[in-house]
Amino acid sequence: MNTGQYTCLEIFAKQTAAGGLVRVFPVKHVSSGGENDGEGQNGMVQAAGKTYHAWLKFQVQQDTDYEILCESCEVSLCYLSGNEDILETGVCYLERRQTDGRFAIADQAAWYDQPTRETYHFSPWKNWMNDPNGMCWFKGYYHMFYQFNPHGQEWSNMYWGHAVSCDLIHWSHLPVVLEPQAEILERPEEIKGGAFSGCAVAMEDEVIFYLTRHKGPLIDCGDTVEQQWMMRSRDMIHFSKEKCMIERGPGEASFDFRDPKVLQIGERWYMVLGSASGGQGAILLYESRDMEHWEYVHPLLLEEQEKIRCFECPDFMELDGKYLAMGAWMEHRDEGGRYQMCRYYIGDWKERKLEIENSGWVDFGSNCYATQSFVHQGRRIMVGWISDFYKEHEACENGAYGSVTIPRELHIREGKLYMAPVREILSLKGDILYRGGGENVEMKEITGNAYRAEMRFNGNPFFSILLGRDGEKSLSLIHGRDGLQIVTEGVKSEGIYFGAEVEEVRTLEIYMDRRVVEVFVNEGEAAGTKIFYNTSKNGCFELYADEPEKIALAELAGMKSIWQ
Ligand code: FRU
Repeated sequence: MNTGQYTCLEIFAKQTAAGGLVRVFPVKHVSSGGENDGEGQNGMVQAAGKTYHAWLKFQVQQDTDYEILCESCEVSLCYLSGNEDILETGVCYLERRQTDGRFAIADQAAWYDQPTRETYHFSPWKNWMNDPNGMCWFKGYYHMFYQFNPHGQEWSNMYWGHAVSCDLIHWSHLPVVLEPQAEILERPEEIKGGAFSGCAVAMEDEVIFYLTRHKGPLIDCGDTVEQQWMMRSRDMIHFSKEKCMIERGPGEASFDFRDPKVLQIGERWYMVLGSASGGQGAILLYESRDMEHWEYVHPLLLEEQEKIRCFECPDFMELDGKYLAMGAWMEHRDEGGRYQMCRYYIGDWKERKLEIENSGWVDFGSNCYATQSFVHQGRRIMVGWISDFYKEHEACENGAYGSVTIPRELHIREGKLYMAPVREILSLKGDILYRGGGENVEMKEITGNAYRAEMRFNGNPFFSILLGRDGEKSLSLIHGRDGLQIVTEGVKSEGIYFGAEVEEVRTLEIYMDRRVVEVFVNEGEAAGTKIFYNTSKNGCFELYADEPEKIALAELAGMKSIWQ
């Protein structure tokens, strides 16, 4: 493997037997016997002989061939970094070559082109991600950080991944930014936690980050500690040491006390945190003059609906002359069977509370959680984690588990939250596969299974659209007597009512992307995200309306991959 322009090699490794060790050599030394003669470097992956996860960083010479050798450990993730223009180039991932087992630069196009992987939704190179964090625009780039487990395809102790984009659509992966606390890495059999979710406030010359550090027993309980920390960056490559700002929550709050989101109202800074109080899901409000010293005010809002363990990832903002709060309902199941939905609340900011006038579901497909928004040039943009709450994920070697929604532009219209994909997504529109109206559409095989469909209807007709079929499994969007709903069959979410809160259907915009579909109704009046795994790279689109003459327009276009 040649280092090219890069100066650093970062390796995430897990120890498999006592004495885990990674050795990095310039290649000439390997061919002459592989002994470490001083130029090679060793990295220990070790903690008292136990399973241990390490993040090793090796300084490497540019334009030099290197070899990586592992003893008693496995490499979970490996990339080159450290070049000056990394915001432009991103990191360079290395993978073991099948032919000889050596680490080599991976072939991106083939890597991303899998049936079980999105082609134009952001997902990590491999392994687990959950919530988007620290969303912001700074000095010409959009930044997205995210909850990341570099070591596997399941949630575990949390790191912050990082990606950057110039257009909200094409992303480059950047080096991991935060890792779990040392004591968690040393005692993973007893405690868990890490760098939990948080936000960014982009100022003119620096970005201030707020996040939760979680440390606690493997099963959350009163011993769990969640504290709020801050850190800064001036270039989004180097990050300051973190500083603890809030050591414990107010007496009334449960031990769930996390996911700070910070905003400015007038001269003051406010922070909302997800929690529960007196058995009710609560979004707690803190206030500060200097962004560093915070005082608890009271709950911004308390949710009356029962059986919510806490709010997670709350957001709060001014939008279109109103105030909008959002939050994810942890461990809640609605009457239709949907699990862990996000709820929005619209109202006025009065006496430092949200006087709620209306509320609704953020996403009727319920595979969208832990949303986070930011403002850039007057646009309020939100991204959600595409979350697999019905355990429909099909693990595959080197797979990525978790992705994010297409960034959505938010508005309030007639007291409702509207969400439409940012217009930049249209830059991915490819060949027109079908364009017509007044007739049903039967496309049984769509090569690549990554497409956009746009429809306009007259007179609110009933219809069904088959969006995915894999043997006995299917995914449909159905408009009938029970309203508009996503319907799955033959998969674990079968039987759950994924209904949209709309009176009629005038327009639809559908984004199918391999294992994920996002549906936008009536220019954003409702949005639904659903996971559907397909073993093939072929998709379908079969639209049947009882009165096809009411289909004013149906247009299908291929969507280009963002990874080429
Ligand atoms: C939501 C969440 C957050 C927490 C993070 C941990 O998905 O549980 O509340 O900060 O994920 O990964």
